[in-house]
Amino acid sequence: MNLSKIFAPTSLLVTGGAGFIGSNFVRSFIESHPDVRVTVLDALTYAGNLENLANLESRFSFVKADICDAEAVRKALADHAVDAVVHFAAESHVDRSILGPMIFTQTNVLGTHVMLEESRRHGVARFVHVSTDEVYGSLGPEGAFTEQSPIDPTSPYAASKAASDLVVQAYAKTFGFPAIITRCSNNYGPWQFPEKLIPLMLINAMNDKALPVYGDGMNVRDWIHTRDHSAAVLAVLSRGMPGEVYNVGSSNEWPNIEIVKLILRTLGKPESLITYVKDRPAHDRRYAIDSSKIERELGWKAMIPFDEGIAETIAWYRANERWWQRVMSGEYLEYYERQYGKR
Ligand SMILES: NC(=O)c1ccc[n+]([C@@H]2O[C@H](COP(=O)([O-])OP(=O)(O)OC[C@H]3O[C@@H](n4cnc5c(N)ncnc54)[C@H](O)[C@@H]3O)[C@@H](O)[C@H]2O)c1
Repeated sequence: MNLSKIFAPTSLLVTGGAGFIGSNFVRSFIESHPDVRVTVLDALTYAGNLENLANLESRFSFVKADICDAEAVRKALADHAVDAVVHFAAESHVDRSILGPMIFTQTNVLGTHVMLEESRRHGVARFVHVSTDEVYGSLGPEGAFTEQSPIDPTSPYAASKAASDLVVQAYAKTFGFPAIITRCSNNYGPWQFPEKLIPLMLINAMNDKALPVYGDGMNVRDWIHTRDHSAAVLAVLSRGMPGEVYNVGSSNEWPNIEIVKLILRTLGKPESLITYVKDRPAHDRRYAIDSSKIERELGWKAMIPFDEGIAETIAWYRANERWWQRVMSGEYLEYYERQYGKR
């Protein structure tokens, strides 16, 4: 690895840093880079929760803003003399994109375009766009997505991420803008909003409620711990090649039904809680990621074994009932007012 090519930011802006993966990234970045200025820009939608960053408030600046608001983005970049951006902010839930798709195009496509344009004008030296393996669509029983796989999204969520990836690539090609794309598989870990598969099933099981499983439960996902994803984003920020795409996964494929049964076994709950429900429309059958490029070129590798990571995650949700109770009741929305409202 060529150390002269390492990029070291002095002031990093993280969009969506109050969400699940963004907050995990901010936490680990602050710990490993105490001398770098960190600014979190987040609109605090239903999915943004500053309590995910509780106890770290003094170590980053917070800007409550919508990524579609060009003026607010411009001001944040200037006020904080930002030289690097990691862009997580997005609408991220497939089911919501089926119920109400327009906000996905608004936030994920238009918002990303605003972030790119303002970052380009400001002279940002690195821009990491955090995308998803869902842009590749669905796989058959064999093989894995590489960076050369065709973009073939299925859901409005995946289509909006795919469209944003194409705008990012156009900026890299047309303007030589130093943007890099990551495409990661399904994340799990603490602080995940309880609408996604693992926390939803965990919380329902803890409350002896039915566990709704789509279709036959045989849809396969490649699960990666969010700390491994954060480490990959950091590797790409500091050592990635501008204009490139890096797939991120941990070769850890599980049919959904097996994840659900694992959760029930760990909690000592009966499988009779499983309830099969009508499948999600156009539900992608299988995702699998070939991460050999980032492993070979940037020296990153997923490090957290699934049995350890899932046991830690289950233990975290058991120990942090107050966190998810407040999320589910909406109380967490008051935290911003208390913490930042009078500043
Ligand atoms: N969760 C996964 O398994 C996964 C896998 C691969 C990639 N990704 C990508 O990683 C990123 C983060 O995913 P996540 O699961 O943490 O999502 P999340 O829904 O938990 O968090 C999204 C964050 O973005 C913020 N946000 C939403 N709209 C905004 C707007 N208009 N302006 C400013 N902030 C806004 C929200 O308030 C929230 O804090 C997304 O881009 C997603 O596509 C997620």
